[in-house]
Amino acid sequence: MNKPVLDACCGSRMFWFNPADERAIFGDIRQEEHMLTDASSSGGSRRLIIDPDQQMDFRALPFPAGTFHLVVFDPPHLVQNGKTGWLAKKYGKLGEDWRNDIRAGFAECFRVLKPNGTLIFKWNEHEVKVAELLKLTDQQPLFGNRCGKTAKSHWIVFMKPDTPPPLQRSAGAEPVDDGSGKRG
Ligand SMILES: C[S@@+](CC[C@H](N)C(=O)[O-])C[C@H]1O[C@@H](n2cnc3c(N)ncnc32)[C@H](O)[C@@H]1O
Repeated sequence: MNKPVLDACCGSRMFWFNPADERAIFGDIRQEEHMLTDASSSGGSRRLIIDPDQQMDFRALPFPAGTFHLVVFDPPHLVQNGKTGWLAKKYGKLGEDWRNDIRAGFAECFRVLKPNGTLIFKWNEHEVKVAELLKLTDQQPLFGNRCGKTAKSHWIVFMKPDTPPPLQRSAGAEPVDDGSGKRG
């Protein structure tokens, strides 16, 4: 079955109502498991499982152009946090060249979307403002929401433009010169 939805960096699928939703392909660059210290859980620790359907890199997605109706892009938002901190384990961490990585991620997400397909972008302003991120794509967002006045998570919705390639003129079909000086 051709699945209509791609989660390009699914992590542990925390935001999914059904983490095994059959409509989606779940991708991530990591496949790993950790025990996280968690005082609120019995035993004081919790398993974190990152188990994508397919390991993939959002900078070079392994799908043809125009494959999905909807892509969700929730990349890591941590630049400074240490690689071993629990936040980094849970959400991954951006590399030094993170602007180019996210730029490539946006470009790939739009490439694999069908025309008029929807991109959901999620960003947490823990370290970097969302305005900085929106500079990394030429696409105009439609709308978005910030969860609460002090909350830092943003959900932003884009739609891939429906731009067919320019019409090819058939051989011999020259622009008409009607004498007005304008070409028609
Ligand atoms: C913020 S977390 C995603 C959290 C997820 N949405 C959830 O609901 O749990 C970001 C994920 O991006 C992954 N990631 C980082 N770089 C990646 C890349 N180049 N390609 C694909 N996934 C990447 C990380 O491994 C991490 O699991």
